[in-house]
Amino acid sequence: MAYDSEAHVRPMQGGDLPHVATIFRRAFNEMYRRRGFGPVVADQAVGAVIAETYRSLDPDHCLVVVRGDRVVGSGFLHIRGETAGAGPITIDPSHQSAGCGLLLMREICARADQAGVRSLRLIQDAFNEVSFCLYGRVGFVARETLVRGSFRSRPDVGVRRATRRATKADLSSIVALEREVVGVDRPKDHELFLRMGETLLTGDEQVDGSLSRLVRGGVAVLGPAVSRDLDTMLDLIQAATRDLPTQTDTRLLVPATHHDLLTAMYEAGFEVHSLCTYMVRGDFEPFRGYYVPTLFPESG
Ligand SMILES: CC(C)(COP(=O)(O)OP(=O)(O)OC[C@H]1O[C@@H](n2cnc3c(N)ncnc32)[C@H](O)[C@@H]1OP(=O)(O)O)[C@@H](O)C(=O)NCCC(=O)NCCS
Repeated sequence: MAYDSEAHVRPMQGGDLPHVATIFRRAFNEMYRRRGFGPVVADQAVGAVIAETYRSLDPDHCLVVVRGDRVVGSGFLHIRGETAGAGPITIDPSHQSAGCGLLLMREICARADQAGVRSLRLIQDAFNEVSFCLYGRVGFVARETLVRGSFRSRPDVGVRRATRRATKADLSSIVALEREVVGVDRPKDHELFLRMGETLLTGDEQVDGSLSRLVRGGVAVLGPAVSRDLDTMLDLIQAATRDLPTQTDTRLLVPATHHDLLTAMYEAGFEVHSLCTYMVRGDFEPFRGYYVPTLFPESG
C-alpha cells in the first residue's frame, strides 16, 4: 500500500497522552477480540502509565502518528547504545490498514539507524499476523519463540541457594551480567526496576543471577531475569515467588529454546497462554545463558 499522504509522525507531547492511552486500550483489545480472546487491557490508565514512564526514560523517541489533525497511533523507541528496543506500537482500529503502522515503523527504524543502533529488538504476539508481516517488511527477523504463561505461587518451595535484594550499588554488576548473557546494555531500565519493583540477586561480589519483579493488583510479573545456568534461574524464580500471597497469579515469558527451564516450569504448574516472537532487525547472537525477557520496558 502507498503511504497515506495525510499522515505524518511527530514527537509525542503531554497533551497527546489521553489519546495515546485510549488508542492503546482499543487497539490491543480489538486485536485480541478479533482472534477470539477477551480484552487484555481493562484499565484506561495502563497506556498512560506506560507512555508517561517512557517519556521520562526516552523523551526524544516517543512518537505519535497524526492523520489530518487527529492522533491515530503511537510508538516508542528505546535506544541503549548499539542495541535498542521498539514498542508498544498501536494504531487506532478505525485507522488501521491505511499504511500508518508502516509509516511509524519506518520512522522508528530510521531513528535507530541514525543513532548507530546495530540490533533493534521487539516482542510481538505470534498470533498477530499483521504485526509479524509489518515488522518483517522493515527488516525484523524472528529469532526466538517466547512462551507466555503463568503459574500460581506457593510458599512451600525450597530454595537451594541464598538470594538477596539488590541495591543501587549492585547496578553495574546486574548490567554487566545482562550484557554478557543477552548482549544489551541498559542501566537506566534496571534503575527503573530498583525504583518501581524489586530485583533479587544470587552471588555476592560476583553477581551470577538477577531477577526483577513487579507486583501490582494481585499479579506478579517476573523479569527481566538473567543467569548463566539453569539452577540459578530456578532458584531466583522460586525466591521471587515464595514470599507472595499463596496462589498469586505469576506471569513470565520463557524462551522456547530454554527447554530445560520450560520443563521445570511445567512441573511447577506453568500454564501456557500464548506464544510470542522475539524479532531482531540487525545483529543477533543467541543468548549466552538463561533469559526471561519482559514487555515492560521493551528495551531488551
Ligand atoms: C499492528 C498494527 C500497529 C498495524 O498497523 P496498521 O496501520 O494497520 O498497519 P499498516 O496498514 O501500515 O500495514 C499493515 C500491513 O500488513 C499487511 N498485512 C495484514 N495482514 C497480512 C497478512 N495476513 N499477510 C501479509 N500481509 C498482511 C497489510 O496488507 C499491510 O500492508 P500493505 O500496507 O502493503 O497493505 C495495528 O494493527 C495495531 O495497532 N494492532 C493492535 C496492537 C498491536 O498488536 N500492536 C503490535 C504490538 S507488537
